[in-house]
Amino acid sequence: MERIAIFDTTLRDGEQAPGFSMNIEDKLHMARQLERLRVDVIEAGFPIASEGDFEAVKRVAAEIRTVTIAGLARAVSGDIRRCWEALEKAAKPRIHTFLATSDIHLKHKLLKEREQALEMAVRAVRLARSLCDDVEFSAEDAGRSDPEYLYRVIEAVIAEGAGVVNIPDTVGYRLPREYGDLIAGLRSVPGIDSVTVSTHCHNDLGLAVANSLAGVLNGARQVECAVNGIGERAGNASLEEVVMAVYVHSKALGLETGVKTEEIFRTSQLLSSLTGIEVQANKAVVGKNAFAHEAGIHQDGVLKEALTYEIMTPASVGLTKNSIVLGKHSGRHGLAARYREMGYQLSEADLDRAYMLFTKLADRKKTIYDEDLMVIINDGLQHIPEAYSLKYFHIVGTSDANSTVTVSLERDGEMYTDSATGDGPVHAASRAINRITGRDGRVVSFSAKSVTEGAEAVVEVFLQVEVDDRSVTGRAASTDLNIAATRAYLDAFNKALWAASAAPGVGAPTPAREPVSE
Ligand code: KIV
Ligand code: ZN
Repeated sequence: MERIAIFDTTLRDGEQAPGFSMNIEDKLHMARQLERLRVDVIEAGFPIASEGDFEAVKRVAAEIRTVTIAGLARAVSGDIRRCWEALEKAAKPRIHTFLATSDIHLKHKLLKEREQALEMAVRAVRLARSLCDDVEFSAEDAGRSDPEYLYRVIEAVIAEGAGVVNIPDTVGYRLPREYGDLIAGLRSVPGIDSVTVSTHCHNDLGLAVANSLAGVLNGARQVECAVNGIGERAGNASLEEVVMAVYVHSKALGLETGVKTEEIFRTSQLLSSLTGIEVQANKAVVGKNAFAHEAGIHQDGVLKEALTYEIMTPASVGLTKNSIVLGKHSGRHGLAARYREMGYQLSEADLDRAYMLFTKLADRKKTIYDEDLMVIINDGLQHIPEAYSLKYFHIVGTSDANSTVTVSLERDGEMYTDSATGDGPVHAASRAINRITGRDGRVVSFSAKSVTEGAEAVVEVFLQVEVDDRSVTGRAASTDLNIAATRAYLDAFNKALWAASAAPGVGAPTPAREPVSE
């Protein structure tokens, strides 16, 4: 079997997409799960883009030791040096530098002639190699580049020591056969046999996974992809789809990845929990309906023999059957056993906290499902210090939508109580919290989803909140929608306070990729 390296860019290209921004703690959480998933490379961010990105790459590089950690840098010395500063403590660092090679980008964005750009790419890789042994070069918009020029650039960067050459279809334009041909054409480039060829396909025409696989069939041995397919515009190739396509066809292709497929579902859920953006129900591999058989004829077939309608088992992506039903009377051992069965290895401290949240939930809800347990893990075990915690909530509502909310918040052992009236419970609760904290917070977007079915279901609320000009996400879960929303608002507040004190630049917007003129 030949190995396909999985380069995960959820924390860089994925995080760059609107609505998917994550704070440092979220990124660390995700990076730990990507390590458990056993991807080969985690692209942790774009260090020059902001202080927050720099810190995130630095923290991921310091903590995650078994996976290569990459940082992105434009092909200019300032970016490359800053990238190295963030990466240098990594056990396996990689500088990933990029420069566009299409005439469209050269003419309109970079304002450079082809020869000038080629020289820039060479200088960038030379500098990167003087700092780091592992250097990847990406030819941005390779999909629309003149292959003859593209191959000259690739030959030149290989000669400077790039060990991975990436051929992005940046705007998701190519058809699978065309993209496959572009990768196949690299075979004639001197030095290509000593490097890894990589794909990076965007999904503008829904072809990102097909194009990545076409690249693999033509010799690429690294695929760049993101969990749930997130990324710029329509996203990147979806990690779970690429991995499971290789897994299902492994024998015929003679290929495999190192990914622990049983971690896939959990990883997808974690990302959705961190960002508040749900996976579409019919999404391949990780959607709610991916293994649901509705039609009678399908159900009948699957009950007789799963193979009739299933090309992979739910267990192979980490969807396990629940053999233990948990409820009010389940003890700490039962909870620990169920988490073990679901594949979580919790420390004693995490189990204590999970058990405390579990007992609270079990008081309100008769049966606790796996989805509830995942929410407890994803939502309740964050390590951001809670400056304020909600101790009391009382609401009086009227049918004309006016609500009055009273909240008590605890901070450093002191209790603060205030009330406010607003246009609905969330408005009233946010105003009460603003009054107590003396800060200016505002809900920009609100979404809620029911985690399980039935009237006693747990509801997860996601908010985008602006606190004193800082945009943060807040999330919380409860069987009571109003309490979940109030806790989500407070969660956003706590994150904003933490970000302001821990890293002044966190949350600063990522600058658009400007023309580079070095
Ligand atoms: O899409 C793209 O071209 C990129 C590069 C920076 C690799 O994301
Ligand atoms: Zn991209």
